Amino acid sequence: MKLEALGITKSFGQGNLRRNVLDDLTLNVDFPHVLALLGPSGGGKSTLLRVIAGLERPDDGLILLNGTPVPFTDKSEATLRDYRRSLGVVFQAFNLFPHLTALQNISLPLTAVHGLTEDAAKERALGVMDRLGLADHREKLPGQLSGGQRQRVAIARALAVKPRFLLFDEPTSALDPEMTSEVLTLIAELRKEGTPMLLVTHEMGFARKIADQVAFLGEGRVLEQEPAGEFFSNPRSLEAQRFLAKVLAY
Ligand SMILES: Nc1ncnc2c1ncn2[C@@H]1O[C@H](COP(=O)(O)OP(=O)(O)OP(=O)(O)O)[C@@H](O)[C@H]1O
Ligand SMILES: [Mg+2]
Repeated sequence: MKLEALGITKSFGQGNLRRNVLDDLTLNVDFPHVLALLGPSGGGKSTLLRVIAGLERPDDGLILLNGTPVPFTDKSEATLRDYRRSLGVVFQAFNLFPHLTALQNISLPLTAVHGLTEDAAKERALGVMDRLGLADHREKLPGQLSGGQRQRVAIARALAVKPRFLLFDEPTSALDPEMTSEVLTLIAELRKEGTPMLLVTHEMGFARKIADQVAFLGEGRVLEQEPAGEFFSNPRSLEAQRFLAKVLAY
């Protein structure tokens, strides 16, 4: 899969306070498996991920997936909605419906959004839950699950739609170390299945291990992009060198 971002600009704020969070950003990835999007806090990683996911419209620029532009400028919202539905997005806060069971959280989008019958949705949801080690938790409400289990349900929900692309925004930042490792193990397993993944994470050890490529974001641009091994052993930009020195210090 090929992902291109061309001249993406996005600003927030009004008047004097307006500033470009993404500033004529260019990114060009031939997805091997996993691209890690790294960079300092406030550098625009989540904003870029949301733009790529079709959740945020850029002020300027184009996103192309396999050469097809994301339909930001279409008059109808429907085409953008269809695009969003073809992806799986997992956020830090799991965004599960608290009054629905784990199983219902996964199957509801399949019937309500993707047009599956109740039976087909249930079968697909159960299959994904089994695969992700959630078989014992089908009937539990999110409040009855641990943080790691909740995040696994959120990942199962994203996978159940058979996305062509998976995007993770700091999927472990709300978890304690043990649950973090549980979720990272799951992501490492998903990598083997070949769905391209974009991963924003502050788990540098994990990024180093799992990512094929790293894009380093700073000042609203991709300051460098290279194979993960090279990025971690020999970062080229001063910004990336400073960033790594800081985050790897402890
Ligand atoms: N909806 C919004 N309204 C106003 N400002 C926003 C909005 N979303 C993001 N910003 C600003 O854009 C900048 C980039 O935010 P973003 O969340 O993309 O950074 P990030 O790289 O993901 O940071 P972190 O590592 O802390 O998650 C920040 O200064 C943030 O305050
Ligand atoms: Mg963020």
